[in-house]
Amino acid sequence: MRATFKNEPFTNFQSEANNKAYDAALELVGSRLGREYPLVIGGRRITTTRTLPSTNPASKNQVIGVVSQADASLAEEAIQTAARTFDSWKFTEPNERARYLYKAAALLRRRKHEFSAWMTVEAGKTRAEADADTAEAIDFMEFYARELQRISKPQPLTPLDDEENQLYYIPLGVGIVIPPWNFPLAIMAGMTTAAFVCGNTVVLKPASPTSVIAAQFFELLEEAGVPAGVVNYLPGPGSEVGDYLVDHPLTRFVSFTGSREVGLRINERAAKTQPGQKWIKRVIAEMGGKDAIIVDAEADLDLAADSIVASAFGFSGQKCSACSRAIVHEAVYDEVLAKVLDRTNRLKVGDPADASTNVGAVIDDKAFRKIQEYIEIGKGEGRLVAGGVSDDSVGYFIEPTIFADVDANARISLEEIFGPVLAFTRAKSFENALEIANNTEFGLTGAVISRNRAHLEQARREFMAGNLYLNRKCTGALVGAHPFGGFNMSGTDSKAGGRDYLLLFTQAKIVSERY
Ligand code: NAD
Ligand code: ALA
Repeated sequence: MRATFKNEPFTNFQSEANNKAYDAALELVGSRLGREYPLVIGGRRITTTRTLPSTNPASKNQVIGVVSQADASLAEEAIQTAARTFDSWKFTEPNERARYLYKAAALLRRRKHEFSAWMTVEAGKTRAEADADTAEAIDFMEFYARELQRISKPQPLTPLDDEENQLYYIPLGVGIVIPPWNFPLAIMAGMTTAAFVCGNTVVLKPASPTSVIAAQFFELLEEAGVPAGVVNYLPGPGSEVGDYLVDHPLTRFVSFTGSREVGLRINERAAKTQPGQKWIKRVIAEMGGKDAIIVDAEADLDLAADSIVASAFGFSGQKCSACSRAIVHEAVYDEVLAKVLDRTNRLKVGDPADASTNVGAVIDDKAFRKIQEYIEIGKGEGRLVAGGVSDDSVGYFIEPTIFADVDANARISLEEIFGPVLAFTRAKSFENALEIANNTEFGLTGAVISRNRAHLEQARREFMAGNLYLNRKCTGALVGAHPFGGFNMSGTDSKAGGRDYLLLFTQAKIVSERY
């Protein structure tokens, strides 16, 4: 184990050897498709009559796994189990809890390509995107283990002559962890491990499209020795099981990452005190984005085009951090648009299992239809200059799509599409570009490409984004280096992968002993 935290390196897929190793992992995963995945409550495996097949977005008839689905009574059992387990888990030594994360990180590192390959087939991630997701999951565990050890040491307090004062960060209780499907390993693992390493117990309700990856991770935690009942694996319909878990009086906190709509629903429901409830529930909600890259008149235009294309079309634009708006100074607008089009037209859309694919399929039929609807809306709001073509005969493929000359108040400029759709908007000045960028209820990521020092400093102050990047793309936050989370309707201003994050899963207790 390294003494200090260091980010997990990404795999170099220019290397033939690495691609061969990935092919082998895909083959291994291919030999395990179609298995049944039970719920796991208190270590007990429960197979239900109601199941949900998880399918490959790029090959929609291919079943990745068949997942048991909880109902309200199993949700009740999971919460009661988590509550009972909390009574002992909360008193385990912090170093012991940290050790489970170091162990799980080591196991995941050994099986890196295998986990990434599951993401290729279940979430539609290309090799590089899946590899980055696995690396981030390893990072979260390595980082949170060290953070727990740091906050468990004696904390700085003003010394008094006749008293010993100690501050302890103690756990909260039963946490409901509700992750999204788009970082099916990293975000799910980060949210789960942050919660339980602090001494809480967890009911993990994975996102339905990626429940198999969550099941694989759950098994990894078991292999790392995490005791039964500390994490309970409870897939099920979000609307039914989710509401039940959120409303429950024994729920102490909800850690959610997903859409604005569901996040606000959870926030409202959790605010209502239930009979027998002894606390105010804490909600940590990370939600959507409508992220912009500004290109200034004085800027490296190739860097601008590279940054826009990578941020807009990486993982088919299905990142909360994705660039869905390019706001370009009128002096360079035509040139930047031409460069972006040139790069976009060279992207290869196809099966993400294929090493040469740049853009895979979108997650499912619902997303496919929603994105198609926005493309139709875009045709009335801008000039279609790339893409606009979709095909769901085999998988849910949508070509990278660009609309030029879009008004800052158009629907495709304001609403989160969550797909490979980019709106180009002309700005009259740098100030005007900032106004347009801030013209959103979200505030997650953003970037500015500029050589003008005064403009970069102005953006530092005025661009309302939780993660603002200067002269680089707006995706790809690294744990520890870019703690991640946004403002306004993008969430509750928490920073995953940052030094404040674990405090959200604890409460501070002061013990003052007078001699
Ligand atoms: P979603 O809101 O549809 O679902 C997220 C989770 O909520 C899923 O597990 C789902 O089953 C569950 N859910 C649905 N209804 C529920 C209910 N009534 N009660 C409790 N849980 C319920 O989001 P998604 O489609 O999975 O993910 C995409 C969204 O996530 C996008 O909006 C994206 O911007 C956002 N996101 C944000 C971040 C961030 O860090 N801010 C990161 C990744 C994704
Ligand atoms: N953390 C992810 C990124 O930065 C969402 O792209």
